[in-house]
Amino acid sequence: MNRNNLAIRRNVSLKPYNSFRTQATAAFFCHPKTNEELMTILKEFSNEKMLVLGAGCNLFFTKNFDGLIIKPDMIGIKLLNETSEFVDLEVGAGEDWDRFVEFCVEKGYSGIENLSLIPGKVGAAPVQNIGAYGTEAKDTIVKVNAIDINTGNFISFSNKECAFGYRDSIFKYNRQYIITSVVFRLNKNFRYTQKYADLNHEMNNIRHPSLRQVREAIIRIRSHKLPDINELPNAGSFFKNPILTQREKEELLVKLPEAPFYPSGNEAYKTSAAYLIEKAGYKGLRKGAVGIYEHHALIIVNYGTENGRDIVNFMHEVQQAVEEKFAIRLLPEVQIY
Ligand code: EPU
Repeated sequence: MNRNNLAIRRNVSLKPYNSFRTQATAAFFCHPKTNEELMTILKEFSNEKMLVLGAGCNLFFTKNFDGLIIKPDMIGIKLLNETSEFVDLEVGAGEDWDRFVEFCVEKGYSGIENLSLIPGKVGAAPVQNIGAYGTEAKDTIVKVNAIDINTGNFISFSNKECAFGYRDSIFKYNRQYIITSVVFRLNKNFRYTQKYADLNHEMNNIRHPSLRQVREAIIRIRSHKLPDINELPNAGSFFKNPILTQREKEELLVKLPEAPFYPSGNEAYKTSAAYLIEKAGYKGLRKGAVGIYEHHALIIVNYGTENGRDIVNFMHEVQQAVEEKFAIRLLPEVQIY
């Protein structure tokens, strides 16, 4: 097979492929449906620059991409193991994340219900170790299967080898691997444990919430707080929550005595980026076509620009305002290309 026989498109607009809806063009674009198709494409385009896209919900473009964009489209949920306690499921990278969560809740498999309604594809879940309401993808991931772009071979990563951290994994820095499927271990026996204030509050009237009730509560909280990408383009949380040392925490408390803190490992404390942005006066503030969402200060929303530079400029302004006021540098969680 040569280039002409492959399902490759040229000069493709990336606006539909990033949830911020910024405009850029990719020289080549493909969405392989099988591992074999992906391997053939990799061989044929081995000299090309490559970028892998999921649903594009955590990134945006500021310039054209002069290479090949790969959007893995391998789908399917396969039962690998089952005991009286758990199931191991192998899920194609191209499966919609929330469809997979719904599948698990329907079957009574617990572990990812707190990650309901997170936009994106299954293949993107390990990359930034998606997390919400006291749960992270890493808690249920057993294995990540990928193809090594450099060798064209299959490679599997155990949970430990993925080096997961807060919104972090080796896949974030090592762009040499294309995730083809992810293996999750889910529990067949569900018992609700209180992990997150917002969720406990929503569960207040229910003594023994079911898996379905937890999913529904999460959907209610998220729909209320986070803007719909179809109505107001955005990429979810724009910044990471900063992790401070004991000393930095004390310094911040002098300026903001009410600042929230969550323990985050050894002598480390996570604080809320949303809180800092709000206290810097940016919640609901709009500059031209870009602004901070009125109901949640961690979300940058696009009111109508196609130019990713406008978002970057606004990001710099927010970073500078927070740094000047509170001596903390916010770092983007969203990937910028
Ligand atoms: N807060 C404010 N102002 C606001 C919003 C929040 O001060 O406008 C403060 C409050 O003190 C609140 C605290 O921030 O109690 C935490 O807010 P929230 O529960 O909404 O969580 P978050 O820290 O802002 C993180 C994740 C979200 C995830 C939620 C729920 C990151 C970068 N973000 O946000 O993930 O849904 O927790 O667990 O860790 C995403 O990554 O795209 C994302 C949406």
